[in-house]
Amino acid sequence: MRKISRCFALTIGLALCTLTVLASDEDAPASKSPSAVTPTSGESWIHHLHRSFGDTSMGKTGRLGPPPPASGEDAAGWQMGLLPASSPENITLHGADLYRLNCQGCHGEAGLGAPPEIHSVIDPVRATSVPLILARMKKSGMDMSSGAAAELARQSQNALLQRLHSGGEEMPSFSQLNDAEVRALIAYLNQLAGVPGAKQLTVTETPARVGELIVKSTCHTCHDATGPNPSSQELEDGTIPPLETLTTRVDQMELIRKVTNGAPITMGTPPTLHRGRMPVFFYLSKSEAADVYLYLTSYPPSQSVAPGETIAGVQQNADGTAAGGGAAAAVSTPPPLPAPAPPVQTAQALTPTTSDGIPDWVVTFLLVALGGAVATVIAGGMGFAAYELTRLGRQGEYHNVVSTGVEKAKRRHRNLVAQ
Ligand code: HEC
Ligand code: HEC
Repeated sequence: MRKISRCFALTIGLALCTLTVLASDEDAPASKSPSAVTPTSGESWIHHLHRSFGDTSMGKTGRLGPPPPASGEDAAGWQMGLLPASSPENITLHGADLYRLNCQGCHGEAGLGAPPEIHSVIDPVRATSVPLILARMKKSGMDMSSGAAAELARQSQNALLQRLHSGGEEMPSFSQLNDAEVRALIAYLNQLAGVPGAKQLTVTETPARVGELIVKSTCHTCHDATGPNPSSQELEDGTIPPLETLTTRVDQMELIRKVTNGAPITMGTPPTLHRGRMPVFFYLSKSEAADVYLYLTSYPPSQSVAPGETIAGVQQNADGTAAGGGAAAAVSTPPPLPAPAPPVQTAQALTPTTSDGIPDWVVTFLLVALGGAVATVIAGGMGFAAYELTRLGRQGEYHNVVSTGVEKAKRRHRNLVAQ
């Protein structure tokens, strides 16, 4: 095992690893639907980071809910005439919707995030565009070959895909997204960042899948999957009720109201009505909130997975969910050699290289792995490096992202191989 992973940086090692991973992927049970819906498990992202609710901007791009109603009033007015339900039909989502369901809770509508904690997505996305890289160089009076720009763009694209699959230091992983979803999301990110020629793609989802995406990406930021149902005193003390308790604490209508409009909550001893602390996700529709309820009732949250199961889950995902892992594989490993399953093809299509197949990809990957970034920057001239640093104002962080990505890919690889 060790030997194989040490070979990682070598072409031969890469090929071996690919085969190993491929073989283990093939062992994983095939799943029935392109987006196998799975329960949410494990602690919330803020618990994972050991951060308290008051200590972070994560999940908080919504606004606060209304104050508690004067005594005697109730929520009837809000409910009247409204019977939102989870749509019985499949739903067509645009890339913008995927952004809304998955990213907006932290990065906001415009993608700017909440610096310094939550970085903007705009610059990293613009860095994936050859025309934008060239335009920037030109503007600063520097020359860069389109080949060098293409190489830079490819590295940025890899970093972006890698980030979606593995998350960041403080950003959760989005390995639950399948290949089609990643593709549509990235197309929209390009649009959001003003990349020329970007246009939106759509995906078709079941209502439960919509609920799953919202819960895993947004609600799970603050709500643990499982745990005891807090008392009203514990609520006052800051406990956030776990996801598994929500569908017994509230009914469908109350959940929709809490999410899309905000609702007061009884806290303290003796229990009294308080204005909620949870942000209102005004950008989610009532039927999307109904999908959340549907998902939480049909796929009850589960305990955290044991370490051994995690890998299996990842593989199953890579295999089953039309390549949530396909995107993953596209990033952390070269694309699979044979192309028997659709995920494989889509994974290839997703890779930043054109459809030239493996050799190109291996070359690209190696370039990244072997510090191609540095070589390219040197080739582009020291001026470019200086320009990049000041322009992006991120002091070399860009390259950190690339190398962190590569480190992660290696680690993931070793884990897979070790299994
Ligand atoms: C729970 C909050 C959270 C969610 C949800 C989230 N992010 Fe992030 N994201 C962060 C944080 C925090 C950072 C900065 C720290 C880090 O890199 O880990 C970040 C950084 C990034 C960066 C890198 C910015 C840079 O400077 O290089 C990109 C790109 C990004 N996010 C894209 C996305 C996309 C796309 C989604 C939706 C699929 C998403 N994020 C969802 C919290 C989040
Ligand atoms: C930024 C953190 C945060 C996020 C993200 C978040 N919640 Fe909450 N949620 C809370 C807190 C804190 C409470 C308890 C206090 C309150 O009412 O604000 C709560 C309470 C609730 C309650 C009320 C339970 C009751 O007994 O009345 C429901 C329902 C709920 N959340 C659903 C959701 C859903 C669904 C999502 C995803 C769309 C979500 N939450 C996302 C922080 C969050």
